[in-house]
Amino acid sequence: MKRKGKLDWLEKKLGEVRSFDGSLLKYVDSSSKEKELAGEAPKSMSKVHKLDSNENFFVDKDFLDGLAEKALKDVDLRLYDSEAVADVKRALGRYLEVKPESITAASGSEQLIDLLTNLFLERGDSAVVVVPSFFIYEKRVKLRGATLSAVPLKQDLSLDIEAVLNEVTSKTRLIFLCSPNNPTANQFEWKQIETIAKTCSSLVVLDEAYAEFGDYSAALPATSSDNIIVLRTFSKAFALAGLRFGYAVANRGLASFLSEVIPFTVNSFTAKLVSEIMSHTDVIEASANKVREERKRLLELLNTVDGLEVFDSKTNFVTFKPRRDANHIYHELFKKGVVIKNLGKLPVIGHCLRATVGLPEMNDRFVAALKEIMRE
Ligand SMILES: Cc1ncc(COP(=O)(O)O)c(C=O)c1O
Repeated sequence: MKRKGKLDWLEKKLGEVRSFDGSLLKYVDSSSKEKELAGEAPKSMSKVHKLDSNENFFVDKDFLDGLAEKALKDVDLRLYDSEAVADVKRALGRYLEVKPESITAASGSEQLIDLLTNLFLERGDSAVVVVPSFFIYEKRVKLRGATLSAVPLKQDLSLDIEAVLNEVTSKTRLIFLCSPNNPTANQFEWKQIETIAKTCSSLVVLDEAYAEFGDYSAALPATSSDNIIVLRTFSKAFALAGLRFGYAVANRGLASFLSEVIPFTVNSFTAKLVSEIMSHTDVIEASANKVREERKRLLELLNTVDGLEVFDSKTNFVTFKPRRDANHIYHELFKKGVVIKNLGKLPVIGHCLRATVGLPEMNDRFVAALKEIMRE
């Protein structure tokens, strides 16, 4: 067949994907679009406090660099080293007190979200998300051409179990729950999540990216459930967002199936470094405790600022709703060298802003800048 003219379908597809804004959320990506406001940005970007992506500054960079050097010496990058990933699963199994066969390793939990939507959603299928929550679930469901049902949280930010279950049909394959939830920062009750999983025959994908900063993890109970898949990441408590490592925990049958079908994407260097860091989980636990202490201090500080509604947090970020124009506050903070996340207008909570719990000096500068703006 001879090609006639341009690849119109491709142009159309790229346009559709790029313009996707979320069904309910007005998403503002402060990491890219907002930084294009370069003219307004402080001259020296090295002075910028980056508090927009829930990264973790509490684990010492030199400590991680030392482990990375060791891992690099230990690895032969010429080989496909499946043993390196098997070692990771054994180490994670000990850490979580689950069998290694219940673990599937991947390059970040976003890749697992992608894998799960690819595997389980076809056109005509549906998925349920609660809103507001992590935007990526909506995006992935839409990209699969599946139907999306978005269920608002209750006003007290708890799960509306009845409303979630009402949306489930015989075509619902996936229910996405994020706990502790990004961006509301609260952790849902395990009993509620369990009730949803036990009542329906969909897979419940429970994203626990922030579990180390919360009150509990469902990783262990997930291994004896027939339909809960817990997602965890090394991007938050383990302070390795740039490494791209995440994993799923589920019953052995489901986890082995996922491990079989997932492409071989965890590189051997990453696997070796993850194994190294698993011998130092005491350092990670101590840093998570420091985040909790600093979170408490930051929440107290924010509560002294007039005109803010500040949400409690079980994560390494704080979300707050200014009674004044949130876009203005976001831009003024940006000009003062403090980059936080402009969440846009969200269902249930309205127009909120979100800031990572940074090191004490970062948070002090953030709150001082915020106070100045709120006084103007
Ligand atoms: C709820 C949630 N899940 C997953 C991720 C991404 O994790 P990863 O870096 O492992 O892809 C994030 C990142 O901010 C997140 O907030």
